[in-house]
Amino acid sequence: MKITKLDIEGFRSLRNISWSPGNLNLIIGPNGTGKSNLLRFLELISVSSQGRLGKYIQSLGGMDPIVWDGAATSIKFSMKTEPVGGELGQEEYELELVRLGSGSSYRIGQEHLINSHKVRKGTEKKPFTFLERHAKNAVIFKEHKRKFTTPEEFVADEENLLSIASGPFIHNKSIPPFQRALSSIAVYRDLNTSPDAIIRQPAIARMERRVDPDGQNLISVLHTLYTGDRDFKNDINSAMKAAFGDDFEELIFPPAADQRIQLRVRWRSLKREQSAAELSDGTLRFLFLLSGIGKSITRACHRRRRAGNRPTSVNASCYCRIRSRCLLTIADHTNYTFATTSGCFRRNTTDNNCSQMGKR
Ligand SMILES: Nc1ncnc2c1ncn2[C@@H]1O[C@H](COP(=O)(O)OP(=O)(O)O)[C@@H](O)[C@H]1O
Ligand SMILES: [Mg+2]
Repeated sequence: MKITKLDIEGFRSLRNISWSPGNLNLIIGPNGTGKSNLLRFLELISVSSQGRLGKYIQSLGGMDPIVWDGAATSIKFSMKTEPVGGELGQEEYELELVRLGSGSSYRIGQEHLINSHKVRKGTEKKPFTFLERHAKNAVIFKEHKRKFTTPEEFVADEENLLSIASGPFIHNKSIPPFQRALSSIAVYRDLNTSPDAIIRQPAIARMERRVDPDGQNLISVLHTLYTGDRDFKNDINSAMKAAFGDDFEELIFPPAADQRIQLRVRWRSLKREQSAAELSDGTLRFLFLLSGIGKSITRACHRRRRAGNRPTSVNASCYCRIRSRCLLTIADHTNYTFATTSGCFRRNTTDNNCSQMGKR
């Protein structure tokens, strides 16, 4: 899924913005202009579609600090999305959080999920509404337009309908993939690579395929994918060679005590493999990017290296040139903060987008 338009009202410094993301988006602008707020908002969208909005807003200190200037009476957003690889229809989704008085609480006001797939195809004149909600009054439409009015006791004031409308008993095939696509938005913050960071310690061997937003499960993810997915292994090897040259040989995962595994890097010039504890910050960050964002930064790495750039500059540059499985990749200029939505590969994309945030 690809977000093609996002309108946000009343969230932190984003009083009223409209944004049309491309496939790769760089957000630039002076400090305090709202770049990170945009990423925070994407996180809020993700959390809301997982049914965790109430707890999330509570963790931010309630509505007061997150509504515009402490004064806005609601936070609203609407988004348009497009399918990639034909798995979803064209959707429009909107959600409104209405603040209750001047306190920290809120309730969901409006919520709509509308599909205009058939309108685009020309087989229907009007878009089809999947979800419609006004406060507690919530309707889920089945395919063939049959209404299913959700009993009020199932409709939580603070959670969106989307998060509960994706169960196996809802006869609407389009809602669950849309909900999953929104839930898959992840905001990755700067990676802690200090000497005592978890990322440098042996990890408990677990099947993990997705890097957590704080990146600290990197070793476990690398182990799962590198040892279980030949394409992933080839991509990592190729990208590491592109960044570090032929000195890079491979990653290995020897067992440590207590069913833990280590990450080690084998270099041709060294007899002993280097453990995660010894790797440079840059190497760990690069592996983090490769695991989080995907494969096709390799070509960009090769080009930069041939041009005689050092590995760190290769990393930074590749970061800005990612063509990958991310359908929405946002690079904030703060160190390595980025957001992704997962999905299928899309190559040869040209509609990159650089958005400038200005002073208020
Ligand atoms: N509730 C709010 N209302 C209005 N402005 C806010 C609110 N919360 C934070 N801000 C402003 O947002 C700005 C920080 O935005 P941020 O996205 O972190 O900036 P950056 O572009 O540096 O990443 C600060 O100027 C802060 O005053
Ligand atoms: Mg910032």
